[in-house]
Formats: sequence, structure tokens, C-alpha cells
Amino acid sequence: MKIALLCSTLLALSTGFAGAQTAPAAAAAASAAATPIETKIASCIGCHGIKGYQASFPEVHKVPMIAGQDARYLAAALNAYKKGDRKHPTMRAIAGTLSDADITDISAYYQQQARPAAAPEQPAPAPDGVAALLAKGACASCHGANYSKPVDGTYPKIAGQHADYLYVALKSYKTDGSAQVGRNNAIMSAQVKQFTLAELKAMANYLGALPSDLAIVPQSKFR
Ligand code: HEC
Ligand code: HEC
Repeated sequence: MKIALLCSTLLALSTGFAGAQTAPAAAAAASAAATPIETKIASCIGCHGIKGYQASFPEVHKVPMIAGQDARYLAAALNAYKKGDRKHPTMRAIAGTLSDADITDISAYYQQQARPAAAPEQPAPAPDGVAALLAKGACASCHGANYSKPVDGTYPKIAGQHADYLYVALKSYKTDGSAQVGRNNAIMSAQVKQFTLAELKAMANYLGALPSDLAIVPQSKFR
């Protein structure tokens, strides 16, 4: 009985919100409810929800796909921007406006947004030179045999992510002493130090061409 009552109250609130733009009374009711997810992600769509959208800093590359990533990794990444462990200025500014509850809600939303067919357990074999690099870094031991099944939910899926973004991300772990570029992450900083830029690019190109759990889900701005 109580549950039924709660459900109908929630339903009334959400229905109220749908009509909020036209009915002031409904708007008042809606403002008492939690901020809807559409509002929380409205500012993300213009970059992460557009196929082929490119960023120009620190060099031209596609904006990373976040739909289909594990919520725990998305939250870890957003918190790293917020704390300054990831220095990318735009994402720092954006993450800085998010509360802990926003980060939890947004991360859960993007995890479920993409539901592609799961990537095959074993990826296509890497060309010899690249296979040796991946073996040297034991990349699969953390990111999964198919690079879509990380051993820990806070580690990213990297298979099929945009290759140009993967390269920029890998380079950023190598960058020290810049206020604008770089990521402080003990694991990946140690990893990338053993490779040249050309080697990082070769791995990024291979990984970016693999079947992916990630996607871009185009959305128009809500309402
Ligand atoms: C102006 C374009 C832009 C907007 C708006 C934007 N992002 Fe980003 N986002 C980027 C770029 C570019 C990167 C890559 C940054 C880097 O190199 O670290 C990124 C990185 C990320 C990452 C890390 C991805 C990964 O694989 O590590 C997450 C998570 C993320 N954004 C979430 C969001 C969310 C959530 C919003 C909205 C609240 C948002 N972004 C708004 C451009 C944008
Ligand atoms: C010991 C575990 C471990 C190993 C080994 C490892 N990684 Fe990672 N990787 C991580 C973690 C954890 C992160 C997230 C770091 C952060 O929060 O910035 C990450 C992040 C990344 C990213 C950034 C992804 C994104 O969306 O921004 C790329 C690319 C990457 N790893 C590629 C590799 C490659 C290539 C190798 C092998 C040369 C490798 N990793 C080896 C744990 C590992």
C-alpha cells in the first residue's frame, strides 16, 4: 500500500515535470523533486553525444566515447578531473561543477546508455610488432583479453575507443610539469614511460580498431 502510494506520487511528480514548461503549478511541484538526469547531462551532449565531434586541445582528436563505459570508471575519471589529477582544462571546469550525487547519477546514466553486442572474448590478433608492445606492457592483464573487460570496474574499456583519443590519453600520462596537459596516475604513468610515442600510436591504432562496447548515442538537447 505504502509502495503503491509512493509510486503514484513519483508518477505525479514526473508527469508534473513533463508539463512544467506550460504549467507554473506543476513547475513548483517539479522543483521539489531531485534534478532530472536530462538536466544533469544537458551540457555533455554537445561534445559526447555528437558522432565525429572533434576537440582541438591539446591537438585535434575525437572526443572520447563515454556511453557503455563502466559507471565506476566514469566516476573515477570525473573525480580525477575535479581533483586536478587530470588536468584537461575544459573537463576540469565541467567536473568542478558536479556534486558527488551528480557524478553518481551521470555515471550510471552513461553506463546504461549504450547496449551494443558484447565484444568477442578474444580480439583479432595484433600485428607482430604491436603484439610485442602489448605483451611488454601486459595491457590485457588489466584491460581484459579483449580490452573491453577490465579486471576492475574503475579501469577503462579501451577496445574500439577512438584511436586518436587513445593516443592523446596515452601521451598525457607521459607529460610532466604542464599545468594544462597531463594525468597523474601511478599505474599508467609507469606504463607509458617504457614506450616511444610511435609505439604508443601503434598500440592506439590497433586498440581503436577492435570491436567495442562503447558508442556514441546521438541526442538532441532535451526539451
Ligand atoms: C567542450 C566539449 C566537452 C563537454 C561539454 C564535455 N566533455 Fe567530457 N571530455 C571532452 C574531452 C575533449 C575529453 C578528453 C579529455 C582528456 O584528454 O582528458 C573528455 C573526457 C571525458 C571523460 C573521460 C573519458 C575517458 O575515457 O577517460 C568523461 C567521463 C567525460 N568527459 C564526461 C563528461 C560529462 C559527464 C560531461 C557533461 C557533464 C562532459 N564530459 C562534457 C569534451 C567535453
Ligand atoms: C596494472 C593495470 C594496468 C595496466 C598493466 C595497463 N593499464 Fe591502462 N589503465 C589502467 C588504469 C587504472 C587506467 C585509468 C587511469 C586514470 O584514471 O587516468 C588506465 C587507463 C588507460 C588509458 C586511458 C583510457 C581513457 O579512456 O582515457 C589507455 C589508453 C590505456 N590505459 C592503455 C593501456 C595500454 C596500451 C597498456 C599496455 C601498454 C595499459 N593500458 C596497461 C590500468 C592499467
